[in-house]
Amino acid sequence: MIEITDFMKPRKFKIALVVGARPNFMKAAPLLKAMRRSSFFDPILIHTGQHYDFLMSDKFFQDLRLPKPDIFLGVGSGSHAEQTAKIMIASEKSLFKTKTSLPDLVIVVGDVNSTLAVALTAKKIGVPVAHVEAGLRSFDEAMPEEINRVLTDHISNFLFTTEESANKNLKREGINSKRIYFVGNVMIDSLRQNQLKISQSSILKQLNLKKGAYGVLTLHRPTNVDNKKSFLRILKALNVIQKQLPIIFPVHPRTKKQIESLGLKNYFQKLKNLVLIDPLGYIDFMKLMSCAKLVFTDSGGLQEETTVFGVPCLTLRNNTERPVTVQKGTNIIVGDNTEKIIKETRKILSGNVKKGTIPKNWDGKSAERIIKVLLKNL
Ligand code: UD1
Repeated sequence: MIEITDFMKPRKFKIALVVGARPNFMKAAPLLKAMRRSSFFDPILIHTGQHYDFLMSDKFFQDLRLPKPDIFLGVGSGSHAEQTAKIMIASEKSLFKTKTSLPDLVIVVGDVNSTLAVALTAKKIGVPVAHVEAGLRSFDEAMPEEINRVLTDHISNFLFTTEESANKNLKREGINSKRIYFVGNVMIDSLRQNQLKISQSSILKQLNLKKGAYGVLTLHRPTNVDNKKSFLRILKALNVIQKQLPIIFPVHPRTKKQIESLGLKNYFQKLKNLVLIDPLGYIDFMKLMSCAKLVFTDSGGLQEETTVFGVPCLTLRNNTERPVTVQKGTNIIVGDNTEKIIKETRKILSGNVKKGTIPKNWDGKSAERIIKVLLKNL
C-alpha cells in the first residue's frame, strides 16, 4: 500500500483576497467562490474596514453570501494619507500572521484606497500581487481612484483586464504584455450568479414603483458633491426632470454629510419627486436599477451594470475609465452640464434610446478564467 506523504499531496496555494469598500464586495465574491470550489487554493478573506456601516458593508456580505472575513483590519475613515497608511500598517501585520507564513499571492480588486494600500504592502514584503480590473484609465489625476489604479497596476504581477482599452493602456505604459490577461468582468459574474434573487426582490413594491416609470440617481464623487456649484448644476437638471419622472436617490454617507454641510437640505426638500432613501443592499439595488427608465450616476460600476441590463445611463462626469460602456453599451457622458443632462433625458423619455450590446467576456465566467491563469502560472 502506498502511503500519501506531504511531498505527494497536491500543493495548495494560499491566496489573500482583499476587500475594503462597497464596490469591492461584488468583485471578490465570485473569485472567493471559484477558489473555494478548487482543491488547489486556500483562500483567506481580508477586509480592511474602509467601509464599515451596516448598509455599506455587512449587508453586502449577507446579500452576496460572503463568509465572515478571516481577517478584519477595522481601519475606518480618514484623509487619503491617513486611511492608506493605516491600511498599510495593519495589512503588513496581518499578512505576516496569515497562518504563520506569507501567502503565495495577494489579490486586490478595483481602485479604492484599500486596493493600492494592500498591493503596496504585499509587494514590499515580497508577495506577488494580482490586480483584478487593471488598466482602466480616466486620464484625470484629480480622481483619487486614477492614482490608485496607475500605481497598483505598475507593481502588480498579474493584471486582469475587463475591456480592450485597458489592455492598450497597460501596453502603452510599458507593462509587459505577458502579465496582462483579458478575462472580462468579475462584477458581471456576481450579477449572473444572483439573477434569480434579484428578480425576486420586492423593492419596487416597497417603494411603490412601477417598472420603467422612474429614474435612479447615485452621486458621491468629490468633484460633484464637495463642490457646491457643480452639485447645484446637477440639481437644477434634476429639478426639471423630476417633474416628469420620479427619481429614487439612495444616498451615500459622504453625500449625506455634504448635503448638510453645503446647506442644500432645503433645496432637496423642494424637489418632491426626488426621493432620498438610505443606501440599498446589492440585491435590491440591482433590481431597482434593472427596472429603471434610466440611471444618473457618477459611479464606475453602475456604468457597467446598466450596460448589461440594457438600461440607459447618463454619467455625471466629464470622462470615463470604462469607454466600452459608451462605445458598445448604453452609457452617455453628460458631466455636470445642466442643459446636456436635461436634453439627453428628454431624448430617452421620448423613446430615442441608445441600444447597446454586451462587451466581450462579460459572460459570468471571468472568475473561472482568473483561476485558470493562476493555476497555470503560480
Ligand atoms: C470610496 C472609494 C470610491 C468608491 C466609493 C464607493 C477611495 C479613494 N474611494 O469612496 O472609489 O467609488 O468608496 O462607495 O477609496 N462613510 C461612512 N460610512 C462608511 C463609509 C464611509 O459614513 O461605511 C463616510 C465617512 O464620512 C467617510 C466618507 O464617507 O469619511 C468617505 O468614505 P471613504 O471610504 O473615504 O470614501 P468613499 O467616498 O466611500
